[in-house]
Amino acid sequence: TKQKLWGGRFTGKTDPLMHAFNQSLKYDQRMHAADIRGSIAYAKSLTKVGILTPVEERKITEGLTAVGKEWESGQFEPAPDDEDIHTANERRLSELIGSLGGKLHTGRSRNDQVATDMRLWLLDEVTEIEAGLRALIRVMVERADKEKDYLMPGYTHLQRGQPIRWSHLLLSHAFSFASDLERLQQLIPRISVLPLGSGALAGNPFAVDREFLARELGFQSVAENSLWGVGDRDFVIEFLLWASLTTTHMSRMAEDFIIYSTAEFGFISLSDAYSTGSSIMPQKKNPDSLELLRGKSGRVFGNAAGFLMSYKGLPSTYNKDLQEDKEPLFDAVDTVSACFRIAEGVIGTLEVHPDRMRQALTMDVLATDLADYLVRKGIPFRETHHISGRAVALAESRKCQLNELSLQDFKSLSEKFGDDVHGVFDFEASVERRQSIGGPSRVMIDRQVRVLRAALDK
Ligand code: ARG
Repeated sequence: TKQKLWGGRFTGKTDPLMHAFNQSLKYDQRMHAADIRGSIAYAKSLTKVGILTPVEERKITEGLTAVGKEWESGQFEPAPDDEDIHTANERRLSELIGSLGGKLHTGRSRNDQVATDMRLWLLDEVTEIEAGLRALIRVMVERADKEKDYLMPGYTHLQRGQPIRWSHLLLSHAFSFASDLERLQQLIPRISVLPLGSGALAGNPFAVDREFLARELGFQSVAENSLWGVGDRDFVIEFLLWASLTTTHMSRMAEDFIIYSTAEFGFISLSDAYSTGSSIMPQKKNPDSLELLRGKSGRVFGNAAGFLMSYKGLPSTYNKDLQEDKEPLFDAVDTVSACFRIAEGVIGTLEVHPDRMRQALTMDVLATDLADYLVRKGIPFRETHHISGRAVALAESRKCQLNELSLQDFKSLSEKFGDDVHGVFDFEASVERRQSIGGPSRVMIDRQVRVLRAALDK
Protein backbone atom coordinates (compact mmCIF):
# COMPACT_ATOMS: atom_id res chain seq x y z
CA THR A 1 0.00 0.00 0.00
CA LYS A 2 1.09 3.49 -0.90
CA GLN A 3 2.69 5.85 1.55
CA LYS A 4 1.97 9.48 2.14
CA LEU A 5 4.87 11.64 0.93
CA TRP A 6 5.59 12.62 4.50
CA GLY A 7 4.64 9.25 6.04
CA GLY A 8 8.07 8.22 7.41
CA ARG A 9 7.72 9.50 10.94
CA PHE A 10 4.11 8.45 11.30
CA THR A 11 2.76 5.20 12.72
CA GLY A 12 -0.91 6.12 13.06
CA LYS A 13 -3.37 6.71 10.24
CA THR A 14 -4.90 10.06 9.32
CA ASP A 15 -8.50 10.44 10.43
CA PRO A 16 -10.66 10.22 7.27
CA LEU A 17 -12.42 13.50 7.95
CA MET A 18 -9.05 15.16 8.59
CA HIS A 19 -7.78 13.73 5.34
CA ALA A 20 -10.62 15.36 3.43
CA PHE A 21 -10.28 18.58 5.45
CA ASN A 22 -6.61 18.82 4.58
CA GLN A 23 -6.97 18.00 0.90
CA SER A 24 -6.76 20.87 -1.58
CA LEU A 25 -6.46 18.91 -4.82
CA LYS A 26 -10.06 19.49 -5.84
CA TYR A 27 -9.35 23.18 -6.27
CA ASP A 28 -5.58 23.52 -6.58
CA GLN A 29 -5.52 21.18 -9.58
CA ARG A 30 -6.20 24.37 -11.51
CA MET A 31 -2.50 25.06 -11.12
CA HIS A 32 -1.41 21.76 -12.67
CA ALA A 33 0.35 23.37 -15.62
CA ALA A 34 2.22 25.88 -13.46
CA ASP A 35 3.27 23.06 -11.13
CA ILE A 36 4.68 21.03 -14.02
CA ARG A 37 6.47 24.05 -15.49
CA GLY A 38 8.04 24.84 -12.14
CA SER A 39 9.18 21.23 -11.71
CA ILE A 40 10.73 21.02 -15.18
CA ALA A 41 12.70 24.19 -14.49
CA TYR A 42 13.73 22.89 -11.09
CA ALA A 43 14.97 19.62 -12.63
CA LYS A 44 17.15 21.68 -14.95
CA SER A 45 18.60 23.59 -12.04
CA LEU A 46 19.35 20.33 -10.22
CA THR A 47 21.23 19.06 -13.28
CA LYS A 48 23.31 22.23 -13.35
CA VAL A 49 24.56 21.47 -9.84
CA GLY A 50 25.09 17.76 -10.53
CA ILE A 51 22.22 16.31 -8.46
CA LEU A 52 20.66 14.91 -11.63
CA THR A 53 22.50 13.57 -14.66
CA PRO A 54 21.36 14.90 -18.04
CA VAL A 55 19.75 11.50 -18.71
CA GLU A 56 17.86 11.62 -15.41
CA GLU A 57 16.77 15.14 -16.14
CA ARG A 58 15.47 14.07 -19.53
CA LYS A 59 13.48 11.19 -18.00
CA ILE A 60 12.02 13.46 -15.34
CA THR A 61 11.12 16.09 -17.91
CA GLU A 62 9.47 13.52 -20.16
CA GLY A 63 7.60 12.09 -17.20
CA LEU A 64 6.42 15.51 -16.10
CA THR A 65 5.35 16.34 -19.64
CA ALA A 66 3.34 13.11 -19.74
CA VAL A 67 1.68 13.98 -16.42
CA GLY A 68 0.85 17.41 -17.81
CA LYS A 69 -0.74 15.83 -20.86
CA GLU A 70 -2.89 13.64 -18.65
CA TRP A 71 -4.22 16.76 -16.96
CA GLU A 72 -4.81 18.53 -20.28
CA SER A 73 -6.76 15.61 -21.72
CA GLY A 74 -8.77 15.03 -18.56
CA GLN A 75 -7.14 11.64 -18.10
CA PHE A 76 -5.32 12.33 -14.86
CA GLU A 77 -6.64 10.03 -12.19
CA PRO A 78 -6.25 11.40 -8.69
CA ALA A 79 -5.32 8.89 -6.04
CA PRO A 80 -7.06 8.98 -2.67
CA ASP A 81 -3.85 10.02 -0.94
CA ASP A 82 -3.07 12.93 -3.27
CA GLU A 83 -3.15 15.81 -0.85
CA ASP A 84 -2.67 18.64 -3.27
CA ILE A 85 -1.52 19.29 -6.83
CA HIS A 86 2.15 18.98 -5.81
CA THR A 87 1.82 15.55 -4.21
CA ALA A 88 -0.46 14.39 -7.03
CA ASN A 89 2.00 15.32 -9.76
CA GLU A 90 4.96 13.82 -7.89
CA ARG A 91 3.08 10.60 -7.14
CA ARG A 92 2.10 10.23 -10.78
CA LEU A 93 5.62 11.06 -11.96
CA SER A 94 7.03 8.27 -9.83
CA GLU A 95 4.43 5.84 -11.16
CA LEU A 96 5.56 6.70 -14.68
CA ILE A 97 9.35 6.81 -14.24
CA GLY A 98 9.95 4.89 -11.03
CA SER A 99 12.03 5.87 -8.02
CA LEU A 100 13.98 8.44 -10.04
CA GLY A 101 10.90 10.63 -9.59
CA GLY A 102 11.87 10.87 -5.96
CA LYS A 103 15.01 12.88 -6.81
CA LEU A 104 13.04 15.85 -8.10
CA HIS A 105 12.13 17.19 -4.69
CA THR A 106 15.79 17.47 -3.59
CA GLY A 107 16.23 20.77 -1.76
CA ARG A 108 12.73 21.81 -2.65
CA SER A 109 9.69 22.04 -0.39
CA ARG A 110 6.04 22.33 -1.17
CA ASN A 111 6.42 25.66 0.58
CA ASP A 112 8.54 27.25 -2.12
CA GLN A 113 6.76 25.14 -4.73
CA VAL A 114 3.24 26.32 -3.91
CA ALA A 115 4.27 29.96 -3.70
CA THR A 116 5.95 29.61 -7.08
CA ASP A 117 2.94 27.89 -8.64
CA MET A 118 0.55 30.52 -7.35
CA ARG A 119 2.63 33.36 -8.76
CA LEU A 120 3.10 31.62 -12.11
CA TRP A 121 -0.58 30.81 -12.35
CA LEU A 122 -1.65 34.31 -11.38
CA LEU A 123 0.71 35.91 -13.91
CA ASP A 124 -0.99 33.96 -16.70
CA GLU A 125 -4.43 34.87 -15.43
CA VAL A 126 -3.50 38.53 -15.13
CA THR A 127 -2.59 38.52 -18.82
CA GLU A 128 -6.04 37.16 -19.65
CA ILE A 129 -7.79 39.56 -17.32
CA GLU A 130 -5.87 42.46 -18.79
CA ALA A 131 -7.08 41.48 -22.26
CA GLY A 132 -10.68 41.33 -21.02
CA LEU A 133 -10.38 44.72 -19.39
CA ARG A 134 -8.87 46.26 -22.51
CA ALA A 135 -11.69 44.85 -24.63
CA LEU A 136 -14.26 46.38 -22.29
CA ILE A 137 -12.62 49.80 -22.33
CA ARG A 138 -12.32 49.60 -26.11
CA VAL A 139 -16.06 49.02 -26.55
CA MET A 140 -16.83 51.96 -24.29
CA VAL A 141 -14.45 54.27 -26.10
CA GLU A 142 -15.71 53.33 -29.56
CA ARG A 143 -19.29 53.82 -28.46
CA ALA A 144 -18.50 57.18 -26.88
CA ASP A 145 -16.77 58.30 -30.05
CA LYS A 146 -19.83 57.49 -32.18
CA GLU A 147 -22.50 58.86 -29.87
CA LYS A 148 -21.17 62.23 -28.84
CA ASP A 149 -24.14 64.10 -30.35
CA TYR A 150 -26.44 62.84 -27.63
CA LEU A 151 -27.07 65.28 -24.81
CA MET A 152 -28.41 64.26 -21.43
CA PRO A 153 -28.63 65.64 -17.91
CA GLY A 154 -25.66 64.97 -15.70
CA TYR A 155 -26.70 64.14 -12.15
CA THR A 156 -25.47 64.73 -8.65
CA HIS A 157 -27.47 63.14 -5.82
CA LEU A 158 -29.49 61.63 -8.70
CA GLN A 159 -30.96 65.10 -9.22
CA ARG A 160 -30.54 66.76 -12.59
CA GLY A 161 -27.52 69.03 -12.45
CA GLN A 162 -26.06 70.27 -15.72
CA PRO A 163 -26.23 69.11 -19.32
CA ILE A 164 -23.50 66.75 -20.52
CA ARG A 165 -22.91 64.48 -23.45
CA TRP A 166 -23.84 60.80 -23.13
CA SER A 167 -20.28 60.08 -24.26
CA HIS A 168 -18.96 62.03 -21.30
CA LEU A 169 -20.79 59.76 -18.90
CA LEU A 170 -19.66 56.63 -20.69
CA LEU A 171 -16.07 57.83 -20.77
CA SER A 172 -16.14 58.65 -17.07
CA HIS A 173 -16.60 54.94 -16.40
CA ALA A 174 -14.00 54.09 -19.01
CA PHE A 175 -11.49 56.26 -17.13
CA SER A 176 -12.18 54.32 -13.94
CA PHE A 177 -11.41 51.12 -15.80
CA ALA A 178 -8.35 52.65 -17.43
CA SER A 179 -6.96 53.43 -14.01
CA ASP A 180 -7.71 49.83 -12.99
CA LEU A 181 -5.77 48.72 -16.05
CA GLU A 182 -2.81 50.81 -14.97
CA ARG A 183 -3.00 49.44 -11.44
CA LEU A 184 -3.19 45.88 -12.73
CA GLN A 185 -0.06 46.40 -14.79
CA GLN A 186 1.69 47.79 -11.74
CA LEU A 187 0.97 44.60 -9.80
CA ILE A 188 2.90 42.47 -12.26
CA PRO A 189 6.46 43.16 -11.07
CA ARG A 190 5.43 42.32 -7.52
CA ILE A 191 3.72 39.07 -8.56
CA SER A 192 6.68 38.20 -10.73
CA VAL A 193 9.10 37.39 -7.90
CA LEU A 194 10.48 33.85 -7.75
CA PRO A 195 10.16 31.97 -4.43
CA LEU A 196 11.56 28.67 -5.79
CA GLY A 197 14.87 27.91 -4.13
CA SER A 198 13.68 29.23 -0.79
CA GLY A 199 13.21 25.61 0.30
CA ALA A 200 11.00 24.92 3.28
CA LEU A 201 12.14 28.17 4.87
CA ALA A 202 15.94 28.34 5.12
CA GLY A 203 16.93 28.43 1.47
CA ASN A 204 18.48 25.84 -0.83
CA PRO A 205 21.53 23.86 0.32
CA PHE A 206 22.47 22.58 -3.15
CA ALA A 207 23.44 25.92 -4.61
CA VAL A 208 20.72 25.90 -7.25
CA ASP A 209 20.99 28.93 -9.47
CA ARG A 210 17.86 30.88 -8.67
CA GLU A 211 18.53 33.55 -11.25
CA PHE A 212 18.61 30.79 -13.83
CA LEU A 213 15.28 29.49 -12.46
CA ALA A 214 13.79 32.96 -12.69
CA ARG A 215 14.84 33.27 -16.32
CA GLU A 216 13.53 29.78 -17.14
CA LEU A 217 10.13 30.56 -15.66
CA GLY A 218 9.91 34.16 -16.83
CA PHE A 219 10.05 35.80 -13.40
CA GLN A 220 11.28 39.38 -13.23
CA SER A 221 13.16 38.94 -9.97
CA VAL A 222 14.12 36.48 -7.24
CA ALA A 223 12.80 36.55 -3.67
CA GLU A 224 15.80 37.84 -1.74
CA ASN A 225 14.80 36.32 1.57
CA SER A 226 13.71 32.69 1.85
CA LEU A 227 11.42 33.20 4.86
CA TRP A 228 9.67 35.95 2.97
CA GLY A 229 9.64 33.89 -0.22
CA VAL A 230 7.66 31.02 1.31
CA GLY A 231 5.62 33.05 3.75
CA ASP A 232 4.26 36.09 2.02
CA ARG A 233 1.01 36.18 0.10
CA ASP A 234 1.00 39.93 -0.44
CA PHE A 235 0.60 39.33 -4.17
CA VAL A 236 -2.63 37.42 -3.53
CA ILE A 237 -3.95 40.18 -1.31
CA GLU A 238 -2.98 42.91 -3.73
CA PHE A 239 -4.77 41.11 -6.52
CA LEU A 240 -7.86 40.59 -4.36
CA LEU A 241 -7.94 44.25 -3.41
CA TRP A 242 -7.42 45.24 -7.03
CA ALA A 243 -10.30 42.96 -8.00
CA SER A 244 -12.44 44.49 -5.26
CA LEU A 245 -11.82 47.97 -6.59
CA THR A 246 -12.47 47.18 -10.23
CA THR A 247 -15.68 45.29 -9.44
CA THR A 248 -16.71 48.23 -7.28
CA HIS A 249 -16.20 50.53 -10.26
CA MET A 250 -18.25 48.01 -12.19
CA SER A 251 -21.05 48.15 -9.65
CA ARG A 252 -21.30 51.92 -9.90
CA MET A 253 -21.47 51.82 -13.67
CA ALA A 254 -24.05 49.04 -13.52
CA GLU A 255 -26.17 51.11 -11.16
CA ASP A 256 -26.16 54.08 -13.57
CA PHE A 257 -27.30 51.86 -16.41
CA ILE A 258 -29.93 50.09 -14.33
CA ILE A 259 -31.48 53.43 -13.48
CA TYR A 260 -31.21 54.68 -17.06
CA SER A 261 -32.93 51.55 -18.33
CA THR A 262 -36.06 52.03 -16.20
CA ALA A 263 -39.21 53.17 -18.02
CA GLU A 264 -39.05 56.30 -15.87
CA PHE A 265 -35.71 57.32 -17.38
CA GLY A 266 -35.80 55.36 -20.63
CA PHE A 267 -32.33 56.56 -21.69
CA ILE A 268 -31.15 53.10 -22.71
CA SER A 269 -32.54 49.61 -23.32
CA LEU A 270 -30.56 46.47 -22.74
CA SER A 271 -30.45 43.95 -25.52
CA ASP A 272 -32.48 40.79 -24.99
CA ALA A 273 -29.22 38.89 -24.90
CA TYR A 274 -28.42 40.40 -21.50
CA SER A 275 -31.91 40.61 -19.99
CA THR A 276 -34.24 38.11 -18.42
CA GLY A 277 -37.96 37.90 -17.88
CA SER A 278 -40.24 37.37 -14.93
CA SER A 279 -41.92 34.04 -14.22
CA ILE A 280 -45.15 35.80 -13.31
CA MET A 281 -45.18 39.30 -14.85
CA PRO A 282 -45.27 38.82 -18.61
CA GLN A 283 -44.29 42.38 -19.47
CA LYS A 284 -41.03 42.35 -17.51
CA LYS A 285 -37.59 42.71 -19.03
CA ASN A 286 -35.14 42.80 -16.18
CA PRO A 287 -31.53 44.01 -16.33
CA ASP A 288 -30.16 40.92 -14.58
CA SER A 289 -26.78 41.25 -16.28
CA LEU A 290 -26.29 44.69 -14.76
CA GLU A 291 -27.63 43.62 -11.39
CA LEU A 292 -25.15 40.76 -11.26
CA LEU A 293 -22.38 43.13 -12.31
CA ARG A 294 -23.50 45.41 -9.49
CA GLY A 295 -23.64 42.56 -6.99
CA LYS A 296 -20.36 40.81 -7.73
CA SER A 297 -18.26 43.43 -5.95
CA GLY A 298 -19.64 42.16 -2.64
CA ARG A 299 -18.47 38.66 -3.39
CA VAL A 300 -15.03 39.78 -4.51
CA PHE A 301 -14.44 42.04 -1.56
CA GLY A 302 -15.65 39.19 0.62
CA ASN A 303 -12.82 37.12 -0.79
CA ALA A 304 -10.32 39.87 -0.04
CA ALA A 305 -11.60 40.47 3.47
CA GLY A 306 -11.85 36.74 4.16
CA PHE A 307 -8.30 35.93 3.17
CA LEU A 308 -6.87 38.98 4.91
CA MET A 309 -8.60 37.72 8.04
CA SER A 310 -6.95 34.29 7.68
CA TYR A 311 -3.61 35.92 6.95
CA LYS A 312 -3.54 38.30 9.87
CA GLY A 313 -1.33 37.35 12.76
CA LEU A 314 0.24 34.26 11.15
CA PRO A 315 3.72 33.53 12.39
CA SER A 316 6.58 33.73 9.91
CA THR A 317 6.98 31.44 6.89
CA TYR A 318 4.58 28.70 5.91
CA ASN A 319 1.51 27.75 7.90
CA LYS A 320 -1.33 25.67 6.54
CA ASP A 321 -3.67 28.62 6.94
CA LEU A 322 -2.05 29.83 3.74
CA GLN A 323 -3.84 27.10 1.82
CA GLU A 324 -6.90 29.30 2.37
CA ASP A 325 -5.49 31.70 -0.22
CA LYS A 326 -6.58 29.60 -3.15
CA GLU A 327 -10.34 29.52 -3.26
CA PRO A 328 -10.73 33.28 -2.74
CA LEU A 329 -8.10 33.98 -5.37
CA PHE A 330 -9.55 31.55 -7.90
CA ASP A 331 -13.05 32.83 -7.30
CA ALA A 332 -11.97 36.44 -7.69
CA VAL A 333 -10.12 35.66 -10.91
CA ASP A 334 -13.16 33.87 -12.36
CA THR A 335 -15.56 36.56 -11.21
CA VAL A 336 -13.54 39.47 -12.54
CA SER A 337 -12.97 37.75 -15.89
CA ALA A 338 -16.66 37.04 -16.28
CA CYS A 339 -17.61 40.59 -15.27
CA PHE A 340 -15.40 42.13 -17.94
CA ARG A 341 -16.79 39.87 -20.65
CA ILE A 342 -20.41 40.41 -19.67
CA ALA A 343 -19.96 44.17 -19.31
CA GLU A 344 -18.37 44.30 -22.73
CA GLY A 345 -21.39 42.49 -24.17
CA VAL A 346 -23.92 44.61 -22.31
CA ILE A 347 -22.35 47.91 -23.33
CA GLY A 348 -21.63 46.78 -26.86
CA THR A 349 -25.28 45.87 -27.47
CA LEU A 350 -27.39 48.28 -25.47
CA GLU A 351 -29.61 50.70 -27.33
CA VAL A 352 -29.43 54.41 -26.58
CA HIS A 353 -32.50 56.66 -26.76
CA PRO A 354 -31.23 60.19 -27.37
CA ASP A 355 -34.78 61.55 -27.62
CA ARG A 356 -35.52 60.44 -24.08
CA MET A 357 -32.26 61.89 -22.84
CA ARG A 358 -33.17 65.13 -24.52
CA GLN A 359 -36.63 65.17 -22.94
CA ALA A 360 -35.05 64.87 -19.53
CA LEU A 361 -33.14 68.07 -20.16
CA THR A 362 -35.35 70.61 -18.45
CA MET A 363 -34.39 74.27 -18.52
CA ASP A 364 -33.50 74.35 -14.83
CA VAL A 365 -30.28 72.43 -15.61
CA LEU A 366 -29.14 75.70 -17.19
CA ALA A 367 -29.46 77.63 -13.92
CA THR A 368 -25.69 77.47 -13.47
CA ASP A 369 -25.28 78.87 -16.98
CA LEU A 370 -27.68 81.66 -16.09
CA ALA A 371 -25.53 82.55 -13.08
CA ASP A 372 -22.43 82.35 -15.30
CA TYR A 373 -24.09 84.76 -17.76
CA LEU A 374 -24.25 87.40 -15.05
CA VAL A 375 -20.68 86.65 -14.01
CA ARG A 376 -19.69 87.62 -17.54
CA LYS A 377 -21.52 90.92 -16.94
CA GLY A 378 -19.27 91.58 -13.96
CA ILE A 379 -21.34 90.41 -10.96
CA PRO A 380 -19.57 88.20 -8.38
CA PHE A 381 -20.61 84.55 -8.67
CA ARG A 382 -22.02 84.33 -5.14
CA GLU A 383 -24.53 87.04 -6.08
CA THR A 384 -25.31 85.61 -9.49
CA HIS A 385 -25.95 82.20 -7.91
CA HIS A 386 -28.54 83.85 -5.71
CA ILE A 387 -30.15 85.78 -8.58
CA SER A 388 -30.34 82.66 -10.73
CA GLY A 389 -31.90 80.80 -7.82
CA ARG A 390 -34.57 83.48 -7.58
CA ALA A 391 -35.22 83.12 -11.30
CA VAL A 392 -35.73 79.39 -10.79
CA ALA A 393 -38.14 80.09 -7.93
CA LEU A 394 -40.01 82.66 -10.01
CA ALA A 395 -40.42 80.22 -12.89
CA GLU A 396 -41.56 77.58 -10.43
CA SER A 397 -44.20 79.89 -8.98
CA ARG A 398 -45.39 80.77 -12.48
CA LYS A 399 -45.41 77.06 -13.35
CA CYS A 400 -43.28 77.82 -16.39
CA GLN A 401 -39.83 76.92 -17.63
CA LEU A 402 -36.89 79.16 -16.86
CA ASN A 403 -36.61 80.30 -20.47
CA GLU A 404 -40.27 81.32 -20.54
CA LEU A 405 -39.67 84.23 -18.14
CA SER A 406 -39.80 87.55 -19.92
CA LEU A 407 -36.92 90.02 -20.16
CA GLN A 408 -38.99 92.16 -17.76
CA ASP A 409 -39.00 89.30 -15.25
CA PHE A 410 -35.25 88.88 -15.57
CA LYS A 411 -34.67 92.60 -15.24
CA SER A 412 -36.75 92.64 -12.06
CA LEU A 413 -34.06 90.33 -10.60
CA SER A 414 -31.03 92.16 -11.99
CA GLU A 415 -30.50 95.23 -14.13
CA LYS A 416 -27.63 93.44 -15.85
CA PHE A 417 -29.91 91.07 -17.73
CA GLY A 418 -30.17 91.98 -21.40
CA ASP A 419 -31.77 90.70 -24.58
CA ASP A 420 -29.03 88.17 -25.00
CA VAL A 421 -30.16 86.25 -21.87
CA HIS A 422 -32.25 83.95 -24.01
CA GLY A 423 -29.04 82.74 -25.61
CA VAL A 424 -28.33 80.97 -22.28
CA PHE A 425 -31.13 78.49 -22.85
CA ASP A 426 -29.36 76.26 -25.28
CA PHE A 427 -28.12 72.90 -24.04
CA GLU A 428 -25.64 72.39 -26.84
CA ALA A 429 -24.15 75.84 -26.23
CA SER A 430 -23.88 75.08 -22.51
CA VAL A 431 -21.96 71.89 -23.14
CA GLU A 432 -19.77 73.55 -25.75
CA ARG A 433 -18.82 76.34 -23.35
CA ARG A 434 -17.01 73.73 -21.28
CA GLN A 435 -13.82 73.79 -23.27
CA SER A 436 -11.33 73.23 -20.48
CA ILE A 437 -9.68 69.83 -20.21
CA GLY A 438 -12.10 67.35 -18.72
CA GLY A 439 -15.26 69.04 -19.96
CA PRO A 440 -18.09 67.58 -22.05
CA SER A 441 -17.55 69.79 -25.13
CA ARG A 442 -16.96 68.02 -28.40
CA VAL A 443 -13.21 68.74 -28.52
CA MET A 444 -12.81 67.47 -24.98
CA ILE A 445 -14.72 64.28 -25.77
CA ASP A 446 -12.37 63.81 -28.70
CA ARG A 447 -9.45 64.39 -26.41
CA GLN A 448 -10.70 61.81 -23.90
CA VAL A 449 -11.15 59.30 -26.70
CA ARG A 450 -7.57 59.98 -27.83
CA VAL A 451 -6.15 59.65 -24.32
CA LEU A 452 -7.93 56.35 -23.72
CA ARG A 453 -6.97 54.96 -27.11
CA ALA A 454 -3.35 55.81 -26.36
CA ALA A 455 -3.63 54.01 -23.00
CA LEU A 456 -5.05 50.97 -24.78
CA ASP A 457 -2.33 50.99 -27.40
CA LYS A 458 0.39 50.98 -24.73
N1 ARG B 1 -1.44 22.59 -0.42
C1 ARG B 1 -0.53 23.43 0.28
C2 ARG B 1 -0.99 24.88 0.13
O1 ARG B 1 -1.73 25.13 -0.72
C3 ARG B 1 0.85 23.29 -0.26
C4 ARG B 1 1.94 23.55 0.70
C5 ARG B 1 1.93 22.54 1.76
N2 ARG B 1 3.10 22.60 2.54
C6 ARG B 1 3.15 21.99 3.68
N3 ARG B 1 4.24 22.03 4.33
N4 ARG B 1 2.13 21.33 4.15
O2 ARG B 1 -0.60 25.74 0.85
